[in-house]
Amino acid sequence: MCGIVGYVGEQPALDVVMQGLRRLEYRGYDSAGVAVLDPGTHALNVARKAGKLANLDAELAETELPGSLGIGHTRWATHGAPTDRNAHPHRDCSGAVAVVHNGTLENFAELRDGLTERGHHLASDTDTEAVAHLIEERYDAAGTGADLAAAVRAVAKELDGSFVLVVAHRDQPDLVVGARRNLPLVIGLGDGENFLASDVTAFIAYTREARAVDQDQVVELRREGVRVTDLDGNEVAGDTYHVDWDTAAAEKAGYEYFMLKEIEEQPEAVAETIGGRLGRDGRLRLDELAISDEDIRGFHQVVIVACGSSYHSGLVGKYAIERWTRLPTQVEIASEFRYRDPVVGRDTLVIAISQSGETADTLEALRHARQQGAWVMAVTNTVGSSIARESDAVFYTRSGPEIAVASTKAVMTQLAAVYLVGLHLAQVRGTRDGDEVRSHYADLAAIPDLIAETLTRMDPMRKVAREISAAERVLFLGRHVGYPMALEGALKLKELAYVSAEGFPAGEIKHGPIALIEQGTPVVVLATRHALAPKLVTNVQEIKARGARTIVIATDGDESATPYADDLIRIPDTKSLLSPLLTLVPMQVFSAEFAMARGLDVDQPRNLAKSVTVE
Ligand code: M6R
Repeated sequence: MCGIVGYVGEQPALDVVMQGLRRLEYRGYDSAGVAVLDPGTHALNVARKAGKLANLDAELAETELPGSLGIGHTRWATHGAPTDRNAHPHRDCSGAVAVVHNGTLENFAELRDGLTERGHHLASDTDTEAVAHLIEERYDAAGTGADLAAAVRAVAKELDGSFVLVVAHRDQPDLVVGARRNLPLVIGLGDGENFLASDVTAFIAYTREARAVDQDQVVELRREGVRVTDLDGNEVAGDTYHVDWDTAAAEKAGYEYFMLKEIEEQPEAVAETIGGRLGRDGRLRLDELAISDEDIRGFHQVVIVACGSSYHSGLVGKYAIERWTRLPTQVEIASEFRYRDPVVGRDTLVIAISQSGETADTLEALRHARQQGAWVMAVTNTVGSSIARESDAVFYTRSGPEIAVASTKAVMTQLAAVYLVGLHLAQVRGTRDGDEVRSHYADLAAIPDLIAETLTRMDPMRKVAREISAAERVLFLGRHVGYPMALEGALKLKELAYVSAEGFPAGEIKHGPIALIEQGTPVVVLATRHALAPKLVTNVQEIKARGARTIVIATDGDESATPYADDLIRIPDTKSLLSPLLTLVPMQVFSAEFAMARGLDVDQPRNLAKSVTVE
């Protein structure tokens, strides 16, 4: 959703905040803004601009904002159009308070009406501005010696909905206050300087020591220290952690887009995620899962909840978990799960998959599952995220920071994770013996090299993507584990190239979708080797006979679909159940190349944000 930065220290705040916003721009790019406290005049100077951060940069080229305390925001619009006047920071009547906000306030209409009745003038259409005026009221009512953190705590209690707030006041030259409910806020702990941000990438250039802020907590950030309280003002303890990746991991490293870099990073990301999982006793060890063997043996079903690409990883997980454990496994879109009164309980393992660990739909689904007594395991890429902290057990994918809005390496590591979790469940429940678990693990361990090999073979995929980039409709077909990857290919293409793209189980096309095919319609077919391959070849023949341009992804040495392929993309052989770890690559490369051929920015597709923290 939105990206937020707060800074107090000795450096020019504008530089630190703008650098942080650059790193957070993937979270939203409808507008951006900063406020810096001028130590000479005690004015909170604000600059803000609709559109991408580059527009604000251009604006700031003409402006000086001196000071070493500042806040900043990059916006994904919810309340109010993405205009200059709705850009954050927002201020109170006198310009004493500046607020940046991530989230949505459900009672904002009521709050605004009350403020207007009490004589405040609200200058924007946002919910956020109400917060600035409410803080003004609380702060001013306290008179001399007013406590900004106390004012923020009081206002936070009045707010319904989700929020991260970061607040500065012109009378407080050494204090930035943050507050959070439901959305991410992390403290960066420096030396003589401290940071607040939506995620650690914003301050990783300055410090790798971090502390997550918990639900309904308020942070007082000063140069020499940080104090965290609950909404009643009681100080609360919290754990700090060391971020084990650095600035280089959050940079483009010469690639035109983060997405292209992240696609290339996949062999390493998967190696990190699956490496070192075999104990000396030859047993698979997922120690971090922290669910006892006895509890695992008590499960009668698995339910996977996730959104978007993470949902597709979950669909693959269903095949692996059912195959290896024989536990009935359902996969559900998180936003649907929560509201249909699902049948889950103590005998249910709910697996919540989320790269960001902050997706509101997934978070609400896991909360609901826990209320019903289910065990919740998070599969996430983000240490300290809400989903990680609210789950009974966490499996961290180790893909490093993913900046491009379209998820690539994180999805790849989610796939690796669901296979590992499936194997772990099978080992503990005794549905697969030790030799078989080790053999599957060995197959997984070989995957990073095979992904690297697949990446070297993508030129034909790029070529066909460019050739057909004027097409307004592309279909994707797959069977078995190829089906979720067909869905993923279609999602990526929609997201990046804004064309109509649909994924189908190949066997289903004759029940309706085949009517979409006309002369030249591009159809990407995931025709890798597996038991259903002969049926899939029949499906390719069916669409070819109706004029489709068939782009066939086939396993090395398998010629069965070759006669019907207009374009043939070869991938290395692996066990068919693991094939998504390879077929995902051409899906990613195809969509990126197709979108770039249309002149589009593949890191920041329109209308989207990296982390969707509203329901
Ligand atoms: O952070 P999450 O994994 O929970 O995000 C879920 C979806 O929003 C995400 O996968 C989205 O579909 C991606 N932009 C797809 O590339």
